[in-house]
Amino acid sequence: MNDYIESNKDRFLNELLDLLRIPSVSADSNFKEDVRNAANFIQEKLLSAGADKAEICETAGHPIVYGEKIVAQDAPTVLVYGHYDVQPADPYELWDSPPFEPVIKKTDLHPDGAIFARGACDDKGQMYMHVKAFETMMATNSLNCNVKFIIEGEEEVGSDNLGIFLEENKEMVKADIVLVSDTGIIANDVPSITVGLRGLSYVEVEVTGPNRDLHSGLYGGAVPNPINILAEMIASLKDENQRINILGFYNDVVELSAVERAAMAKAPFKLSEFKDSIGLSDIEGETGYNSMERASIRPTLDVNGIWGGYTGEGAKTVIASKAYAKISMRLVPNQDPDKITQLFEEHFKSIAPDSVSVKVTPHHGGQPAVTPTDSIAYQAASKAMETTFGKEPIPFRGGGSIPIVALFEQILGSKTVLMGFGLDSDAIHSPNEHYGLFNYYKGIETIPLFFQNFSDMQE
Ligand code: BES
Ligand code: MN
Ligand code: MN
Repeated sequence: MNDYIESNKDRFLNELLDLLRIPSVSADSNFKEDVRNAANFIQEKLLSAGADKAEICETAGHPIVYGEKIVAQDAPTVLVYGHYDVQPADPYELWDSPPFEPVIKKTDLHPDGAIFARGACDDKGQMYMHVKAFETMMATNSLNCNVKFIIEGEEEVGSDNLGIFLEENKEMVKADIVLVSDTGIIANDVPSITVGLRGLSYVEVEVTGPNRDLHSGLYGGAVPNPINILAEMIASLKDENQRINILGFYNDVVELSAVERAAMAKAPFKLSEFKDSIGLSDIEGETGYNSMERASIRPTLDVNGIWGGYTGEGAKTVIASKAYAKISMRLVPNQDPDKITQLFEEHFKSIAPDSVSVKVTPHHGGQPAVTPTDSIAYQAASKAMETTFGKEPIPFRGGGSIPIVALFEQILGSKTVLMGFGLDSDAIHSPNEHYGLFNYYKGIETIPLFFQNFSDMQE
């Protein structure tokens, strides 16, 4: 198997580079055709790798690629999930090379080189490892599991249509386990497996004051300024201990036991390195929890964007009529995104002064998820990584969200293994996103071992 990977190494890389040249930005309708082209690319590669079928499934939004290879009716079935859509690349000017013209450069953490492009790590690079691992297993006649692929084009916009697709195709997509590479490891010499994801509630708020923009001299001081008021309202959402001030927000939060927290603390984490890696001289967060806990087992509230008034060149003296913000709340088990969105809306309206009106618009959300460590599938992944990294991977809870994971369990009754290979420093969603060649090939090597172990471990 490793011989096959070795002798096809360059092609495996060049194909990924071709995929990265397709700007499949799901959020922006200007890229609609490109998103479809990326789907067609995956379909074709699944077929040429040896899938029995690979089809483009239409949805109300971007298409889903569904593929499968059935080796035997009684063999265990692995459902591979990934996404071919990417986040918008802007701000373009902050990229050192154009986001859809991949280049390979060495970095301190990636001395063998890393691919710089939007989607390199999230999730084209990680998803494509599965396509190439599948090709490798087919070519070396070593695939002992049935495999089904769901590669979607709307993960970065909330996966709404994939939920519907699962409901409508329960029988077709049925599997013993879902395998996903869309998360990370702690470091290239510290393998780990993600065993929890946060949920998400995302809202946009609009604060309206006067019925038109006003001269800030003629009216200033005598009228409500929606931007000032929005800033005060946002500031009041957290108390001095950085606890979220929304009544009922923490009601459903599952607290970890001292034993569980002690187990978490075993994962290597250096505060100084954490600060240096993002250029901070100090950090902050909820009192009573360390940085690792704050970013994984605790819920948060963050402003993701705020605007209003005059932001162009020079100065314009104006009191804007409206101010806006986009706010995300990352959730943990057992918080429910709809309930939290509703609590937010009620609270935000209740703290608005009578001088303004407030509109709250919910965006996509997602439920938190935890994945088991006492399953055959987890053991299969752990053993596979132990073989390829030479170290047993550490289970750890991640801070990001993959909303479909909770739905795989709810709709299909399937558990998920989050065997990702990215690094937090790979700058996903940011300018200069990249993915290590080491990580790409490590994934392609590890995935077939997962399949092997998973089939060997069935009783
Ligand atoms: N792959 C990420 C999520 C992720 C990254 C989880 C690293 C754990 C470690 C995924 O593509 C993503 O960005 N999800 C979004 C949620 C979605 C609803 C837009 C997120 O977490 O912001
Ligand atoms: Mn992703
Ligand atoms: Mn993402």
